[in-house]
Amino acid sequence: MTQSHDRLLIIDFGSQVTQLIARRLRELNVYCEIHPYQNVTQAFLNNFQPKAVILSGGPASVLDVDAPRPPSWIFSHGIPVLGICYGQQVMMEMLGGKVERGHGTAEFGRAYVVPGQNTLPLLEGWFLTDREQVWMSHGDHVSEIAPGFEVYGTSPNAPFAITADVDRSFYAVQFHPEVHHTPNGKRLYENFVRLAGFKGDWTMGAYREEAVEKIRNQVGDGKVICALSGGVDSSVAAVLIHEAIGDQLTCVFVDHGLMRKNEAEEVAGMFREHYNLPLIHADESELFLGKLDGVSDPETKRKIIGGLFIDVFEKHAKEIGGADFLAQGTLYPDVIESVSFSGGPSVTIKSHHNVGGLPERMNMQLVEPLRELFKDEVRALGRELGLPDHFIGRHPFPGPGLAIRCPGEITRAKLDILREADAVYIDQIRKHGLYDEIWQAFVAILPVRTVGVMGDGRTYDYACALRAVTSVDGMTADYYPFTHEFLGETATRIINEVPGINRVTYDITSKPPGTIEWE
Ligand code: XMP
Repeated sequence: MTQSHDRLLIIDFGSQVTQLIARRLRELNVYCEIHPYQNVTQAFLNNFQPKAVILSGGPASVLDVDAPRPPSWIFSHGIPVLGICYGQQVMMEMLGGKVERGHGTAEFGRAYVVPGQNTLPLLEGWFLTDREQVWMSHGDHVSEIAPGFEVYGTSPNAPFAITADVDRSFYAVQFHPEVHHTPNGKRLYENFVRLAGFKGDWTMGAYREEAVEKIRNQVGDGKVICALSGGVDSSVAAVLIHEAIGDQLTCVFVDHGLMRKNEAEEVAGMFREHYNLPLIHADESELFLGKLDGVSDPETKRKIIGGLFIDVFEKHAKEIGGADFLAQGTLYPDVIESVSFSGGPSVTIKSHHNVGGLPERMNMQLVEPLRELFKDEVRALGRELGLPDHFIGRHPFPGPGLAIRCPGEITRAKLDILREADAVYIDQIRKHGLYDEIWQAFVAILPVRTVGVMGDGRTYDYACALRAVTSVDGMTADYYPFTHEFLGETATRIINEVPGINRVTYDITSKPPGTIEWE
């Protein structure tokens, strides 16, 4: 599908912010992919045919034995190359310049670059004042630039902050233009892709047409089944696939009884009525809640729900006479293998439940039409497909649902209380116009009851915790700084409107050390 677009290749050397380079480029309607340097072989390049290359930053030193390097092919095929931080250093070293270890010249954080003598098209519109703020993060530095290069910008500790060999269209910067703290960084990328001749044809309209075509080619007259969770990703995938192959698609919405207030009906109703999508609404709440009865350990809860989900989904797939393909809303960040320098497997904090084990077990091929998209691109595609805004902007909701917002044993009574309290809380957030500023907000019902006094009587009811966080990707998060007024008003409403709760607390833990969900 993407072959018809000009393609930019980002060679990843393991920087923490490589994904941001891709983000900036996608914002400029340029199609790009990130690949770890080890995978960029000659065969890969022959197939990928990049129109330009960006070399990312990374933690290695070019002075180390076995320092990671890009293939020299990229410097001999007349394509523009931009090196960033480590990418700059490795480029200089490979093209005949020199790199030295830090020794007092390391630079981390904010720095200011001033322009050199000559103008450079890459910097058009970039220096808004006589110096421009950038973000540096380097130990080694270039001590001698390669033949053919000239200096176009310097900072106190990086005399070669911006260099270029204009004739060969090679550009190299020591700082990170992709990060927020290089405020005018996007302009550099904009200039780079313009100089490289990109047409900026990566739009959602074009993506939609090509994706439909690709799905038709892949599926032929086969049958596709899709697990609809009510989340944005699986919903957008389902609507797109339905546009491509109509009733060859069947969606299964497994209601595990752990959805929020009215959620199951809303999701099923929207897809059935608005999109006329063949949908099995599997109400399996008895099964799930039965198996969760008496279980309080978080990991056990997750395993039970994940396992049951697969069983139930398989059962319904059989009912429709089997399927050849399984549709999933996998996104690009799930696909990118970033380079691991530490090597070791990371610790499992929580076993995430999605449809992970399904494809192997059911022997189906995958249809993953969102594999090349970031989350906000999926939202843009959803809008393009006519999904309502309030649906597209919904906060993420975890696969195990309310089970992990009910620490300790799950009972129907507690779930009912939780659903009501959550609905009031979200209503408050929407009424105050805060919903879109918050990554995720929810109530957790605590496994303690506390004493209160209401009217003139004693109460002995549950306590709950409100959670609201800001985040970019769910990996790190900070609590949302509600005003005391908002918190007070919300607590009063919950206690007045939700029987069963007599105490409300606000969770002010960031992630880390906390996680977003309570379990
Ligand atoms: P934590 O709690 O680990 O969550 O900080 C990070 C983000 O992931 C969501 N989450 C899940 N999403 N299946 C999902 O699809 C899961 O099992 C799951 N557990 C947590 C969580 O809501 C937050 O957005």
